Amino acid sequence: MKKYKLGFIGYGNMAKAIVGGILKSGFLDKSQIAVSRQSDGCADGIFCTNDNSYVATNCEYLVLAVKPQVFKQIDFVCSADCIISIMAGVDSNFISEKLCARGKVIRVMPNTPSQIGKGVTAISENGLGNEYNDFCKAVFKSVGEICYISEDKFDAVTCVSGSGPAYAYYFAKAMIDGGVSNGLDENTSKTLALDTIIGACEMIKANPQIPLKTLISNVCSKGGTTIEAINVFENDALDDTVIKAMTACRKRSEELRAGK
Ligand SMILES: NC(=O)c1ccc[n+]([C@@H]2O[C@H](COP(=O)([O-])OP(=O)(O)OC[C@H]3O[C@@H](n4cnc5c(N)ncnc54)[C@H](OP(=O)(O)O)[C@@H]3O)[C@@H](O)[C@H]2O)c1
Repeated sequence: MKKYKLGFIGYGNMAKAIVGGILKSGFLDKSQIAVSRQSDGCADGIFCTNDNSYVATNCEYLVLAVKPQVFKQIDFVCSADCIISIMAGVDSNFISEKLCARGKVIRVMPNTPSQIGKGVTAISENGLGNEYNDFCKAVFKSVGEICYISEDKFDAVTCVSGSGPAYAYYFAKAMIDGGVSNGLDENTSKTLALDTIIGACEMIKANPQIPLKTLISNVCSKGGTTIEAINVFENDALDDTVIKAMTACRKRSEELRAGK
């Protein structure tokens, strides 16, 4: 029996989001988690060290949560029963070989809204035993939604959900700025823009049978106001820009895999 249930190599933005979500959900408590990071100390009462090998030999499940470039450079001893990698652009085969952990690696791609229980995590379809998959599923279920996707699609997953929160923040900021430049104060614009985005996303989810094109045209009465805005999006090919941006993101994930 290992000392800790769950260990993390790297305790940055994403690991903190996952741990924050797990603790909030009550799935594990602080005494069951250990983390290692480069600098000393953790403010949140979780066991923290800069000895990667200590964490990787004293936990049942180990989450790899360092940057891909860092993982390729560091060496540590690992005897965890199962390894869960959240790293973008690092194949499970590479991890298995580096850590001598064949048959123990599950690759996942979470996102930062996990911190408030609203994440979405892609879990790679893998041939691992149910016990390992059940635990992995429970960890990420405790911080949001999960879905199973084959590992060869993970670069695409990264460019949609892994990096996606930043696109949503970007669009939200643009909408808030748009409200301000059209006469609202910042707070009012923020309230209206954010609740509009949340409400619109809920509408999409509540009406899966209605195509998005129809939902858009339902707001655009002929000769009305909304169509004027949508016409500008169309003329400026905003959709092409979004697709171009996401393709750049996917390509970076592929480059990381190739060690660039
Ligand atoms: N951020 C996201 O939205 C997101 C989403 C999905 C997946 N990911 C993946 O999650 C991983 C981490 O991303 P992040 O955004 O959380 O990065 P981050 O905030 O930069 O955190 C990286 C962590 O790695 C630690 N670290 C650096 N060198 C180390 C070493 N030699 N030994 C042990 N720990 C070391 C850092 O320590 P210090 O704290 O001491 O600096 C830090 O805690 C990446 O592989 C990324 O692809 C991120």
